[in-house]
Amino acid sequence: MTRSAVLAGIGSFLPPRCVPNAQLATQMDTSDEWIRMRTGIRQRYFAEPGTTTSDLAAEAGARAMKSAGLAEVDAVVLATTTPDRPCPATAPAVAAKLGLVGRPAYDVQAVCTGFVYALATACGLLAMSCVDTVLVIGAETFSTILNPADRTTSVIFGDGAGAMVLRATESDEAGQAPGNGTIGPFDLGSDGTGRDLITVRAGGAEQRRSCLTPAPGDEYFSMAGREVFRQAVERMARSAGAVLARAGWQAGDVDWLACHQANLRILLSLADALGIPENRVLANIAEVGNTSAASIPLALDQAHQAGRFKPGDRLLLSAFGGGLTWGSTVLTWPDLTHP
Ligand code: COA
Repeated sequence: MTRSAVLAGIGSFLPPRCVPNAQLATQMDTSDEWIRMRTGIRQRYFAEPGTTTSDLAAEAGARAMKSAGLAEVDAVVLATTTPDRPCPATAPAVAAKLGLVGRPAYDVQAVCTGFVYALATACGLLAMSCVDTVLVIGAETFSTILNPADRTTSVIFGDGAGAMVLRATESDEAGQAPGNGTIGPFDLGSDGTGRDLITVRAGGAEQRRSCLTPAPGDEYFSMAGREVFRQAVERMARSAGAVLARAGWQAGDVDWLACHQANLRILLSLADALGIPENRVLANIAEVGNTSAASIPLALDQAHQAGRFKPGDRLLLSAFGGGLTWGSTVLTWPDLTHP
C-alpha cells in the first residue's frame, strides 16, 4: 500500500478593510487606470494595525478544518513572507490559536511560491506516516512590508489567508490512478542568484539591525518588476510543463489553471504558453491583488464557494516568487460539501 495526500477541506479569510485603486491614487503618483491596465487589480484588502498574520491564518485554518469536518488536525504548516516576528516561527502561534498546542507546527518561506512548497512538505509528512492530517496555510500581511514611497510595489500586494486540510489515504499499487482530491506529483525549483529581484534587504544577517541605519527603503519589500514578470512566465511555464509530464496529463486535460495571482497579464501569458484557454484560468486578482503565499488557496476557496468546481475537475497549480523559487503540482478536485 502507498500513502498519499488528498484534499479534505478548504477555507480562506480576508481582513475587512477593502482598499480600492482610487484610494491609493490619493496617496501616491498612480491612477486606477494604470493599475487596472498593467496588473488587472481593482482593489485589495489591508489588515488594520494590531491584526497579525497569525490572526488571518487562524481564521482561514478554522474555516478549512470546518470544511473538512475536523475539530483537530495533527500538524500545521504555514507559508508566509510576513511572519508575526522574525523569531520564532508563526505556525506554533497559529496552532495555539486553533487549540492545537502540542502538535508539530512550522513555517515555510518561499515568498509567493510558499504555498506550493508547504503543500509538498505536508504531502511528505503524510507519505512518511508522521501524521494523518495536516493543515496547510498560506497567510500574509504584506501591507506591513510595503514601502509607501514605492508605487511599483504598493499597488500590487494585498493581505489575506487561505488554507487546506490534507489527509492521508492508502491505495494499493494497482489502483494508483489519481482519484478525487489527490495531490501531486510536484515540480519545485530555486535560483538564489536572482535573490535581489524580490527582496527585503535589511534586518537579517547581511544588513544587521544593530549596526547601521539601513539604506533608505532597504527595510521594505522591493522588486524589479519587469525582470520578475519575464522570469515568472518563463519559470512557471517550464515548471507546469514538467509537472504535467510527470502526472501524465496533457494541457487539454486541465480543467482549471490555478496559479499564483501575480498579475493578470502574467496569468494570461502563462495560459497562452501552456496552450490552456483563457476561460480555464482561475483569476481573483482583480478583487484581492497579489496576496503572495495566500494567493493560490484563497483563489481556490473563492472559486469553490462560488460553486465553480465539480468533483473530478483537474487543476494545475503553479507559482513563482522570491528566492527565486518556483513550483507546480496537480490536484483532482474532491467532492467537498458547500458551506
Ligand atoms: N502607477 C503609475 N505608473 C507607474 C506605476 C504606478 N503604480 N508603477 C510604475 N509606473 C511607471 C514606471 O515608472 C514606468 O514609467 P516610465 O516609462 O516613465 O519609466 C512605467 O510605469 C512602466 O513601468 P514598468 O515597470 O516597465 O511597467 P510594467 O508594465 O512592467 O508593470 C509591474 C510593472 C510591476 C506591474 C509588472 O512589471 C509586474 O507585474 N511584474 C511582476 C510583478 C509580480 O508579479 N511580482 C510578484 C512576483 S511573484
